[in-house]
Amino acid sequence: MLIKLSRASDCKESEVTPEPIYLSRRSLMGVTASALAVSALPSWASAADPSRYEGVEAGSAPAWLNDKLGQTRWGAVTVQGEPITPFKDATHYNNFYEFGTGKGDPAANAGSLKTEPWSVVIDGEVGKPGRYALEDFMKPYQLEERIYRLRCVEAWSMVIPWIGFPISALLKQVEPTSKAKFIRFETLQDPKSMPGQRSGFALINWPYVEGLRLDEAMNPLAILGVGMYGRELPNQNGAPLRLVVPWKYGFKSVKSIVRISLVSEQPATTWENIAPSEYGFYANVNPEVDHPRWTQARERRLPSGLFSPNVRETAMFNGYGEEVASLYTGMDLRKNY
Ligand code: MTE
Repeated sequence: MLIKLSRASDCKESEVTPEPIYLSRRSLMGVTASALAVSALPSWASAADPSRYEGVEAGSAPAWLNDKLGQTRWGAVTVQGEPITPFKDATHYNNFYEFGTGKGDPAANAGSLKTEPWSVVIDGEVGKPGRYALEDFMKPYQLEERIYRLRCVEAWSMVIPWIGFPISALLKQVEPTSKAKFIRFETLQDPKSMPGQRSGFALINWPYVEGLRLDEAMNPLAILGVGMYGRELPNQNGAPLRLVVPWKYGFKSVKSIVRISLVSEQPATTWENIAPSEYGFYANVNPEVDHPRWTQARERRLPSGLFSPNVRETAMFNGYGEEVASLYTGMDLRKNY
């Protein structure tokens, strides 16, 4: 992520959302991103269904997860007039340094990640700490499909149909104490299955760690993802559990989470530790605050290629200002980048 900006990818622009699906989505567009309540649904939207998207590779989720995914509801958040990124691009152009630094490395190498069984530790400033099998951890939550923009700090972006549940629902469950001010997320550390963690050249002090202020985590847009494109998360996208915070640069969306801690102090996070002058704790998408080495005013929407670079203007808070700007009232976003 530190390195270079835009080597044009050679992805085709043809694999977009099938028209009938796109049109039926458009009929939902009266439901704006700020209206997060689940509303009346067309039947196709009542459950996760990979056949709604083109070119989705079949997954191999355990039965309990498939059952859970089958009960997914439409989360009433979409992206108006912007086609969904083809599955192939979203799953073959990745950042997951545990599996290598090349964009194709995660897809090539993440097969070694064993996601079943998986457990998640909840600890720190909570009334109900514990270690939970993922299956038990997820039991209380209704899954929702949410279509969000993903904007990487490297200035490329995608539109992805995620499946997940609001972090606010988790927080309600685990009962943060009055001392809890931040939430810290930690990725699996397992050099045996994660070649990037064995590399002597790695910049990262593993495990990968990210965090949010508690009120950011409570925002209805912040979700923990367990699926995308109607199926479970592919390993390279952070199976079996990842953060999705669409108004922030992609590096906040930590993958393959094994520990969630409620803490009183702002946690030290991976990219801020490596290069604090380039990557801040907040990492809100902001076209007016450039990265020291490149502009953030524009982005390449994937698929993008030499002859159709698909460049667009970057929107403040990645287009989610209506929902999140009030979290930062009175803050200098140039200092708190
Ligand atoms: N999580 C872990 N554990 N390791 C990583 O290297 N990369 C981050 C984020 N989460 C990363 C991570 C970055 S820089 C981005 S842009 C997004 O994952 C990319 O998510 P995607 O590959 O699903 O598009």
